[in-house]
Amino acid sequence: MIHLNVIGCGRVGTTLATLLQRAGVCQVQDLFSRTFDTAQAAAQFVGAGTAVAHMADMRPAEVWMLSVPDTQVAAAAGELSRSAGLFPPSNGRAPTVFHCSGFLPATALGALQALGWQAASAHPVMNFANPAQCVSQFRGTPCGLEGDEQAVTLLRELLSAIGGECFSVPTESKPLYHAAAVFSSNFMAVLQAIAQEGWAAAGVPAALMPRIHGALLRGSVDNLLTLGPPKAITGPAARGDTAVVAAQAAQVSQWHPEAGEIYRAMSVLARRLATTGSTQSLFDAGLSPEHEAGPTPRIGP
Ligand SMILES: NC(=O)c1ccc[n+]([C@@H]2O[C@H](COP(=O)([O-])OP(=O)(O)OC[C@H]3O[C@@H](n4cnc5c(N)ncnc54)[C@H](OP(=O)(O)O)[C@@H]3O)[C@@H](O)[C@H]2O)c1
Repeated sequence: MIHLNVIGCGRVGTTLATLLQRAGVCQVQDLFSRTFDTAQAAAQFVGAGTAVAHMADMRPAEVWMLSVPDTQVAAAAGELSRSAGLFPPSNGRAPTVFHCSGFLPATALGALQALGWQAASAHPVMNFANPAQCVSQFRGTPCGLEGDEQAVTLLRELLSAIGGECFSVPTESKPLYHAAAVFSSNFMAVLQAIAQEGWAAAGVPAALMPRIHGALLRGSVDNLLTLGPPKAITGPAARGDTAVVAAQAAQVSQWHPEAGEIYRAMSVLARRLATTGSTQSLFDAGLSPEHEAGPTPRIGP
């Protein structure tokens, strides 16, 4: 049985530890977090493992998960390397260590790679709101893997055993790969917040807001998933109503200058998406700029 130690007992760490324990592919052994209470709560949720108060108290293990925030990955690896250097080799094989960041490469764990450990990054493409929900929703979650070959092979086995669908991410593409996930998910929340604030400022009754918001958002998500973005896009910019776009952008800017900037930039991309099927400039694709001009602007419903 593979022993799993966990450093960072938040949403991702607790969810993955629980799933790996329940699937019987790992025995969760020691759990450490910045706060001891968090490690204790995680051990209780997982139903296995021992919460420890100091990283140096953790026992040797075949697999280590560093599920700490991105900014803490290198520091946690460095701290672990200072105590792990004292560990006797486990079964004569170097331990495997991984973090869960979509942005950082496996080399963020360089302090441990320098000791001969095999390192990987394993990024589950999922919104980890809370462990109870995520444990039941994890099956079928795509997991982007990257790093040392031996570590990637082991992580592929472990994550597949809990229902993850693993794929490889080229190391040099990780920042762009993760930025795409930010556009797909995180920025959705910002756009929805701007919309709600705009309706409120425009005097839409608060009681009506959930219905307006829900109807538009659900309809958009359904269309995006069934038709794809180029066919799902609607609105004044997509239609080429440039006079409406200009007047509306000026109004938005008066109300909320940053939202005005986003409105203008998004309108350019919306128009391009509707007319060419891509948000990227046709100049880059080597096509004629006339394609981007689209039909003559008009004002209408
Ligand atoms: N959330 C997501 O949707 C999601 C999705 C995919 C990947 N990820 C990645 O998964 C990783 C963890 O994210 P998360 O959402 O699980 O974060 P989280 O819920 O904030 O959990 C992080 C945990 O790490 C602990 N911690 C912080 N600094 C530490 C340190 N120096 N040493 C030990 N423990 C430390 C915190 O401790 P205390 O609570 O004890 O203070 C916290 O419990 C990140 O790399 C993130 O990019 C997140």
